[in-house]
Amino acid sequence: MNAKEEIDRLTDELRLYQDKYYKEGTSLISDSEYDRLTDRLMELEAAHPELAHPDSPTKRVGSDLTNDFPEVRHTIPVLSLDKAYSPDQVRDFFGKSIAKGGELLSFAAEEKIDGVSMVLYYEDGVLVRAVTRGNGEVGNDVTANIMTMRSVPLSLPEPLTIAVRGEVYIAKADFEALNAREPDEAKRAANPRNLAAGTVRRQKSSEAKLVPLRIFCYEGFWADRDQTPPDHLHILAKLKALGFTIDEDLAFFSNTEEEAARKLREAGIEGRAYAFSGLEGYIAGMAGARKGLGYEIDGLVFKINELDVRERMGYTEHHPRWAIAYKFEAPQAEAKLVGVTVQVGRTGRITPVAEITPTKLGGSTIRRATLHNQEYIDELELAIGDTVSISKRGDVIPAVERVIDKNEDGNTTFRIPDVCPCCGTRLEHIGALDFCPNYGCPDQVRGRIAFFASSDQMDIESLGPKTVDILYKAGMLGSIEDIYRMDPAAAAGLPGFGEKSAELLAKGIEESRDRPFATVLSSLGIAELGKKNAGILIQGGFDSIDKLIEAAEAGSVSRFTALPGFGEVMAENVIRAFSDPGLLATVQALRDAGLHMSADMDAKGEKLPQVFAGQVWCITGSFENFNPRTKALAEVEARGGRTVSSVTSKTTHLLAGKGGGSKRAEAERLGVEIVDEAGFLRLLGRQGKEPGDGQLTLF
Ligand code: IVH
Repeated sequence: MNAKEEIDRLTDELRLYQDKYYKEGTSLISDSEYDRLTDRLMELEAAHPELAHPDSPTKRVGSDLTNDFPEVRHTIPVLSLDKAYSPDQVRDFFGKSIAKGGELLSFAAEEKIDGVSMVLYYEDGVLVRAVTRGNGEVGNDVTANIMTMRSVPLSLPEPLTIAVRGEVYIAKADFEALNAREPDEAKRAANPRNLAAGTVRRQKSSEAKLVPLRIFCYEGFWADRDQTPPDHLHILAKLKALGFTIDEDLAFFSNTEEEAARKLREAGIEGRAYAFSGLEGYIAGMAGARKGLGYEIDGLVFKINELDVRERMGYTEHHPRWAIAYKFEAPQAEAKLVGVTVQVGRTGRITPVAEITPTKLGGSTIRRATLHNQEYIDELELAIGDTVSISKRGDVIPAVERVIDKNEDGNTTFRIPDVCPCCGTRLEHIGALDFCPNYGCPDQVRGRIAFFASSDQMDIESLGPKTVDILYKAGMLGSIEDIYRMDPAAAAGLPGFGEKSAELLAKGIEESRDRPFATVLSSLGIAELGKKNAGILIQGGFDSIDKLIEAAEAGSVSRFTALPGFGEVMAENVIRAFSDPGLLATVQALRDAGLHMSADMDAKGEKLPQVFAGQVWCITGSFENFNPRTKALAEVEARGGRTVSSVTSKTTHLLAGKGGGSKRAEAERLGVEIVDEAGFLRLLGRQGKEPGDGQLTLF
């Protein structure tokens, strides 16, 4: 048997098994035999790509190749719907349609599935392309992922050339089950629609296949007009006969209930028959049934049934005049995307930020919202000029939830430029993120300095982001180490800078020289090396910068991964950072400036006992001996403790000064140990001892 014959035979055989399995749930052969045949067919197709069938059953398997979702032009207009927010508006739509189309008009009412809009293109009965809606003219080709969905036919029983519109979604139960299996909370999808949108764009179709996506198909467009069924009901019936899944929860409205029932019967399709007078009752019923459905819907779609009337009514620029979407909820907050600002963070990470028309939400006016990364923008298919809905996630952070209306300017999905908006360096792509690899990029430099000086880090008073910017532009501050090299007095006279502010700056810098090693370490701005990990490193024996540099030089990943909670990625980051000549130069300069480069020593030059190791401290109120109170926190950290900003079940101690209300109450409720200032001083060994004595008395 030659390759062609073998490919044809295997294709037929596997197709038969798949049909039986997907449509009837029966397996004709064992899983291992099935896998063996599939592997063989994949091998042959790889060797003879010209002989592979475009709808080969191997397409269901999904591949490990990276998808790139090229933009393609739709061959049908992919319009969205005009919206109604009250039953009255739907009734108006009925009235206007009947005025134009005559008494005999009828309407289909369907669920408006909350998923991802998709167009499936078939040529001569074979699925050739699956394309997202995009801006209605241009969408992304996601064929490889869609082909893994069992409810999408790869070929049709007739050689038709058609386009089928549908909504790809994930059932509520499947969504819950998948999210429950994802241990990393940050990776869990916020809702079924987001998970469906993310899956449709998974880079590997072998991974997309693992998410049980489904599709409901609701419109069909025939290339050959003569073959087009006469009305919507017949289109749905035909789609079903061709193997597409349609939403069975259909309602149908005519002059009388009998008339509606007759039309459903004639088309051979299930549905509930209503007279026009039943509209309000139907809507109320669906609003009530919504929560109990197995999938999410955000409204109902009412469509004129007769295609000749549809054609006569035509389209506005963006919506068909023959259909309307009734939405269950009035829009939360709508805004227009007027632009996207691309920011460069201190680590070089690129973050696109949505600039929106000022929008009131939850008591504040929102102008900007993070868009996270290119992937997030792609999932939303977000373009400048689009109308979007805005929410406040967790009630604080504004987020762009979805596109409500596409722009009318022909803009396609926004793309982060290839080069850094600040320094013009070509960006690097790591996972879903973009990075500017230029360590000297001005935005990164300013970001690093501002981070180092921030109140959570070295806490340098009077050196906030704006001041950093002024000093940077004046050429006084070009790196972290410049903070200790420059002459703050020279700042007097710069824009917004008087003698007084220069003095405060000098004082702030001076005070910061005494911050503990843990603080210095976590302020360097090394990826993955925040306060928590700095604590883990120090407690794990890396209690000086020299020890870290030495281990990094040795390139010993295992010395880091031996520490509790330290993963390989973190280890590699730390090694890379402490091998970088730029960072090493900074460290040397900071050492020369007198900053602590090892865990704090007592007067005899011995390391402070790590008496707070494993403890988690929070602070409230004000103190006599610790002003600002961050000094008390520094003492905790210097002795191996961790500090947090709110009392939770993980907090072990609350350091309570004068005043302080809610944190104390919370600590009492949770049984967290409460320590007052005198008790804290005792723990530090500062009580009843003469200065210079050197001996620490603890407990
Ligand atoms: S009909 C010209 N029917 O809602 C035909 N759309 O804003 C227009 N949708 O883009 C679409 N369920 O993604 C239609 N039963 C349904 C639908 C439906 C969900 C989505 C679809 C469309 C959007 C309309």
